[in-house]
Amino acid sequence: MRVAVIGTGYVGLVTGVVLADLGNQVLCIENDPEKLAKLRAAEAPSFEPGIEELLKRTIADGSLRVSDSVAEAAKFADVLFIAVGTPSRPDGSVDLSAVHAVAEEIGKNLTHDLLVVNKSTAPVGTVREIGRIIERSSIGRKAVVASNPEFLREGNALQDTREPDRIVIGADDRASVAALEELYSPLNKPILFTSPESAEMIKYACNAFLATKISYINAISRVCELCGADVAHVAKGMGMDRRIGPDFLKAGLGYGGSCLPKDVAGFIDFAGRMGYDFQMLHAVKGVNEAQASHFLQRIEKELGGLEGKTICVLGLAFKPETDDMRAAKSLEVIDFLLARGAAVRVHDPAAMHVVEPQYPQIEFAESPYCAAEGADAAILVTEWNAYKNMDFDRFGAKMCSKVFFDGRRACSQQALERAGFRYFTIGS
Ligand code: UDX
Repeated sequence: MRVAVIGTGYVGLVTGVVLADLGNQVLCIENDPEKLAKLRAAEAPSFEPGIEELLKRTIADGSLRVSDSVAEAAKFADVLFIAVGTPSRPDGSVDLSAVHAVAEEIGKNLTHDLLVVNKSTAPVGTVREIGRIIERSSIGRKAVVASNPEFLREGNALQDTREPDRIVIGADDRASVAALEELYSPLNKPILFTSPESAEMIKYACNAFLATKISYINAISRVCELCGADVAHVAKGMGMDRRIGPDFLKAGLGYGGSCLPKDVAGFIDFAGRMGYDFQMLHAVKGVNEAQASHFLQRIEKELGGLEGKTICVLGLAFKPETDDMRAAKSLEVIDFLLARGAAVRVHDPAAMHVVEPQYPQIEFAESPYCAAEGADAAILVTEWNAYKNMDFDRFGAKMCSKVFFDGRRACSQQALERAGFRYFTIGS
């Protein structure tokens, strides 16, 4: 099948390479000249395990091409995916200008029956709006428009796309999206057909629920700290109940990234516009915003102030296996430390190049051991495997004082205490 994907962020690029790998002819569209040049050279524009290899292979065998022309995509494709950004505005509402601009361009270049599939996370009603824009700008020609939300996680994007728990397709009638069903048939996964409105809602409902689970366990962690319980044990006991499940119950510094914070804010805004004040999600957001500052205040108290201290920060990316710094908790940590007069030395296996230009006043170390040099304490912010399996004797030997604050409950307390550290973590 001939497939076009507009936008080569995480969602678009992964969709493109996976569909090309499944034997389709794929055209990926990117309007950022820098990203386009990278893609043309078969280089992945962002860090994501396995993507570059697949990109090289599919470009080399001719199954994937890149271009900057939405017009070309509209003329070429049988199925066209929209996967452009839907960022938050300062008030939390969703900025749909990129989606609308793409719809208009599709309409102007509509030459044949085209199935347009929206993958960008967007409020209920967006699919119908895309349909109206296409119809208006094509002077009466209609395209079938469907919603097909994406549930992939950064760092695990390829596997999530090849082996999704389910595929959600929102359309008015199943026959009109037969091409999409055929496209996904090699994955052999359950497909849920529903209306566009329900499909759009499923995406927000899922991300808001995941955020709720995280904030719930983080709120529990605060009570654990006050009463002597251990949140890791509590989460384990909760997760063994099959009705609850063990996932997304890891207490830590809170959720970051490009989706959960944005989608919670977008959903609150959307529900409000519809006439429902989503109090519960306000609380989810509030718990998330308070989590890092609470841990930082504990750190400041334990160290008897931060002025003049050197702090080693382990991990910058919003989670492991990515260089994505969007809404990363590390930025909050670094800003707090600098504001209190501490010197900051950081390490991250992938994201340092993203942060370096913004923070000339901090030191970027080439290994966690170098970051520990002369430090009064270490704070683990992102749970990269490299940190969990460190040689803590060697790490501690570099430090002035062996104090370890584990913001993700990632390291073994026993191993650190054996190496002579004082160990502090969230929720115990
Ligand atoms: C999320 C959704 O999981 C995915 O389905 C959607 O398509 C996009 O948003 P992503 O942002 O890539 O994916 O990462 P995810 O693994 O969900 O983690 C999000 C944040 O929550 C990270 O900051 C992570 O550290 C945090 N988290 C996750 C916790 O603090 N505790 C947990 O138990 C799980």
